[in-house]
Amino acid sequence: MAARVSLYLEILGVACLLATACAREVNQFPEGFLLGAATSSYQIEGAWNEDGKGESIWDHMLHEHPEYGNNGDNGDVACDSYHKYAEDVQALKELGAKVYRFSISWPRILPNGDLDVINQAGIDYYNNLINLLLENDIQPVVTMYHWDLPQALQYIGGWPNPILADYFLEYARVLFDNFGDRVKWWTTFNEPITFVRGYSTSGGQAPSQKARGIGNYLATHTVIRAHAKVYRLYDEQYRSTQNGRIGITVGTNWYEPYNDEEENLAAQERILQFELGLFANPIFVDGDYPAVVRERVDNNSRAEGRPRSRLPSFTDEEKRMINGSADFLAFNSYTTMVVRSAEFGFSPSWGRDTGTYRWYNLSWPASGATWLRVVPWGFRKVINWVSTRYPNYPIFITENGYIDSGELDDQGRISYYGQYMAEMLKAINEDGANVIGYTAWSLLDNLEWNSGYEVKFGIYHVDFNSTERTRTPKASASFLAGIYRNMSVPEEYFT
Ligand code: NOJ
Repeated sequence: MAARVSLYLEILGVACLLATACAREVNQFPEGFLLGAATSSYQIEGAWNEDGKGESIWDHMLHEHPEYGNNGDNGDVACDSYHKYAEDVQALKELGAKVYRFSISWPRILPNGDLDVINQAGIDYYNNLINLLLENDIQPVVTMYHWDLPQALQYIGGWPNPILADYFLEYARVLFDNFGDRVKWWTTFNEPITFVRGYSTSGGQAPSQKARGIGNYLATHTVIRAHAKVYRLYDEQYRSTQNGRIGITVGTNWYEPYNDEEENLAAQERILQFELGLFANPIFVDGDYPAVVRERVDNNSRAEGRPRSRLPSFTDEEKRMINGSADFLAFNSYTTMVVRSAEFGFSPSWGRDTGTYRWYNLSWPASGATWLRVVPWGFRKVINWVSTRYPNYPIFITENGYIDSGELDDQGRISYYGQYMAEMLKAINEDGANVIGYTAWSLLDNLEWNSGYEVKFGIYHVDFNSTERTRTPKASASFLAGIYRNMSVPEEYFT
C-alpha cells in the first residue's frame, strides 16, 4: 500500500530544504484543515413556537399541508436541540470536531422578520451554544439562512420581492452585532439553488409557490443581491474589528456526460452552470450570470412571447457590488448523475432552460435513497471543477454524507465517508485543490425536510420515539473520530 501512497510536496512560499520534512502523504490532511459536522436550525432545533420564536415558512407549510411532508413529520420538536444543545456539543467533542456548522433561525431572532421585535431569548440561545462550543475549542461556522424564512416575510412575497435583500441585510447586522465578536466563519445562504425551487413548484420546498421558471429566478436575483449587500456591510463596518470571513454555500451534483459527443459535453457544462454557476459566477467570477444561462433563459423567454426575460438583469453598480463578494466558497455535494443534451421538461421551467436530461446510473451503488448513489470519483471531479472555475477562493466543503435506514452499525456510511474523503484528499494533495475544511452531514439524524425522519443522515442516532431524543453514536462516529484525531484517512480507501 505504501507504494500507492504518493508524496505531495507542499512548498509553503519558500523552498523546502529537506523534502521529507515538507512532504505530506496523499491520505493526510493539510495542517490546520477544519474537520467537523453540520446541521441546520429547522432540521434539529424544535421549539418551533417557544420563547418568542416566530413562524417560519417551513412551520407554516408543514402545518397547513402535512401531506407535503412524510407521515405528517415536521420540525415542531425535531431533535429538540433548542433544549439539548449541550448534548450536541458533547457529541462534537467526542467526535474531535474542530468546527461545527449550524444555522441561525431568522424567526427565532426576528419573529416578524424585521427589527420591530428582537427576541432576546433567541439571541441567548445562540450565545449559549456559541460560548459552549468555544469553551470546548470548537469553532462555530454559522449559516445565516438555511431555508427557514420568517412567514411574515412570505406574506410580502418572500424572496422574489427585491426588498427582501434589505430585510436580510438588517437581520445580518443583528447577527454581527450580537455574535460577530466570537463567530469568525459566516455563510450567508445555504444551497440557494434548492430553496429557490420553493418559488417554482408546489408540494415540495417551502413556501410551495408555483411560479415555475419565473419565481425561482426572481428569488435567485434577490438572494445574490442580499448576499453581496451583507458582504459589503461586513467589509465596511465589521471586518476591521471582528476579523471574520464570509462566504456562501453553493451546491451541485457532479454530472458525467452520457458520451463524448460534443453536444453532451456542452450539456455537462450547461447543467453545471445552471446549478452552480447561476450563483457562483456572479459572486466568484465577474458579477453576472454565466453567459450560457443568460442566453438560454433570454431566448426561451422571447420564444414564449414574453416582453422581458424571466431572468432579471443586474445593474452595473450591482455587478460591481456582487463581483468578488466572498472570502471563501462553501460547497455541498453528495452524488453524481448522467447528463445529455435535450429540450426536456415543462415550458417554462429551469429544467427546460438547462437544455439537458439527467438521470441516475443504476449500476452505481445505491444508498438508502435512490437519489444518492455512491460515486466517490465524482466527488474528486466536482471539487476539481469548482477549484478550476473559481481558482482564487478557498473551498470549504460544508456538506457531504450518506443516507441509510438508521442502523447503529452503519457500515455503508463508513464506507461512503472513507471513499469520499479519500477522493477529496486526492483532489487536495494530487490535483492541488485548495480545500480548507469539511463538515460531515450530519451530526444528528434529523428532519430531512419533506422526506421526514425516515431518511437518516446522522453519525449520531436520535431516538425520535423518546421525549428525551436520546443521542447515541453510530459506528461512523468513531470512524470519523479516528480520522479527525489522526488527520488522515485509512490507506485502504486509496486502493
Ligand atoms: C442539503 C441541505 O442543505 C440539507 O439541509 C439537507 O438535509 C441535505 N442536503 C441532504 O439532503
